[in-house]
Amino acid sequence: MDADPVVREYPDATWADDGPTRGVEGVVESGHVLAFPHLAFALEPEERRFLDPRWTDGKAKNVSLRWPAGELRGAAGAAADLGALRRMIVRYAEQSEAFALRLFPHYRGKLRRGNTSFRPVDVAGRARSWRQDDTRLHVDAFPSNPMQGTRLLRVFCNVNPSGEARRWRVGEPFEAHARRYLGAIGRPWPGSAALLAGLGITKRRRTEYDHVMLQLHDRAKADAEFQRASPQHAVAFAPGTTWVCYSDQVLHAAMGGQHMLEQTLLIDVESLARPETSPLRTLERLLNRPLRY
Ligand SMILES: [Fe+2]
Repeated sequence: MDADPVVREYPDATWADDGPTRGVEGVVESGHVLAFPHLAFALEPEERRFLDPRWTDGKAKNVSLRWPAGELRGAAGAAADLGALRRMIVRYAEQSEAFALRLFPHYRGKLRRGNTSFRPVDVAGRARSWRQDDTRLHVDAFPSNPMQGTRLLRVFCNVNPSGEARRWRVGEPFEAHARRYLGAIGRPWPGSAALLAGLGITKRRRTEYDHVMLQLHDRAKADAEFQRASPQHAVAFAPGTTWVCYSDQVLHAAMGGQHMLEQTLLIDVESLARPETSPLRTLERLLNRPLRY
């Protein structure tokens, strides 16, 4: 094992506030994955039927809840069933958010709830193009959804009922990754951010930060030699395991698995315990100029 493995394990067996782990902002902000092998999300007996890809609408690969209203997206079924499915995902949203606030008390009052997703579809069947192929190492960045520096903190839980692990690869530290490609990444075309927003291609302005993060995402996924030979570890998250990381910072690839819940939590760089560890501040330091405009 490495002296400083990317994945760090904790003994917590409860989502509640009296669990043992708290005050670990520095661990997650420095690019680690916090794994809780004894922290299962408990399904009610009548919820086990939802562990089946037939509840997706066939277009979306995930079922998701959009907050603040919590509307259900990507699901198909009778109204009563969808109501029960929604209640299960809402429970995960509430438990995982409360858990994050216990782990990271510095974030109280600053963490915002992003989408909650339920993923009953096998990872193996999901890829449509190389850019969407999440079996390739990448940091999360989205063409239509510029984050403008806002962090993506994610709480995952494997709810597979038949013993199948969620298999990830995790890769090199963010700064080393940025240095690998930064010299080849040019500036965005003048006017391109306003054009993309004006055409409705992006939900808000694509800042230079977003431009660089998308380039890192795309260049990593397109680079077969990087995928094969860069520093990396295989990780298996067994059923009943919860794990937490900044997915805009941790190089990750989903290699296999089925049935997972995921909560996205958003926080501004300025609200971190150590803002200088963020991708935004790291890239600004390496490029020696502000990127959030
Ligand atoms: Fe990802």
